[in-house]
Amino acid sequence: MDAVTEASLEVSGLAFAYPDGHQALFGVDFRIERGERVALLGPNGAGKTTLVLHLNGILDGGTGSVRVAGLPVDRAHMAEIRRKVGIVFQDPDDQLFMPTVREDVAFGPAAAGLKGAELQARVERALERVGMAEFQDRPPHHLSFGQRRRVAVATVLAMEPEILVLDEPSSNLDPASRRELADILRSLDVTVLMVTHDLPYALELCPRSLVLSEGVIAADGKTAELLANDELMRTHRLELPFGFDPSR
Ligand SMILES: Nc1ncnc2c1ncn2[C@@H]1O[C@H](COP(=O)(O)OP(=O)(O)OP(=O)(O)O)[C@@H](O)[C@H]1O
Ligand SMILES: [Mg+2]
Repeated sequence: MDAVTEASLEVSGLAFAYPDGHQALFGVDFRIERGERVALLGPNGAGKTTLVLHLNGILDGGTGSVRVAGLPVDRAHMAEIRRKVGIVFQDPDDQLFMPTVREDVAFGPAAAGLKGAELQARVERALERVGMAEFQDRPPHHLSFGQRRRVAVATVLAMEPEILVLDEPSSNLDPASRRELADILRSLDVTVLMVTHDLPYALELCPRSLVLSEGVIAADGKTAELLANDELMRTHRLELPFGFDPSR
């Protein structure tokens, strides 16, 4: 496959059941081209997080395949995949585990071989982008939820990933932080897959959306068109905020 036609992300026939037998994905197919920003919408329990956890091999053992920039997500390519796929988890406490913010943000780049001044510069740049530079020496568990979310985003930005995957990035952010995160995401020159229940946020940031419902892709199209499709929205328990008009 040549570099020009390679998708940033290609998911084919992905099906997965948890060890307790609960099947969460029933054959998911889609591809995302380099530089696209795509929202992944769907009701609670649809399988969004389960899908996200397959994108860098945290979950595996199902059927089907995931490829990132042409590279299969499997044990043989795990180190490279983990560098290419930056996931901001739904809960920042799943992401932050070091004694200080600086060490958390440095962790990934250090594991990838960066050190010294270059490492410190990478950490500072990532924290500056999320407005958390002055928190470098603080323990993450002393920060507010929204501050931890921003540090979690910085840990991933510091890796300069091929694809940035965010699970519910705007939840629990105050309106200014929510807007600032939108500005950051828009300014990045990376592929973005963003799981969200915040439909205005999806519309603002992602020209294209996927609707995942009961473990399958129920729709794939322009965000504005999907949000304006009342029947689709009702069927998949998607609701716009009161008074919000997606055509405006
Ligand atoms: N560890 C697990 N073991 C068994 N079943 C699980 C596990 N984690 C999730 N599930 C089930 O898999 C389905 C998909 O869950 P998932 O967390 O992927 O949904 P989601 O779309 O991310 O929902 P939300 O919008 O609430 O975050 C749900 O029915 C859930 O109960
Ligand atoms: Mg989820």
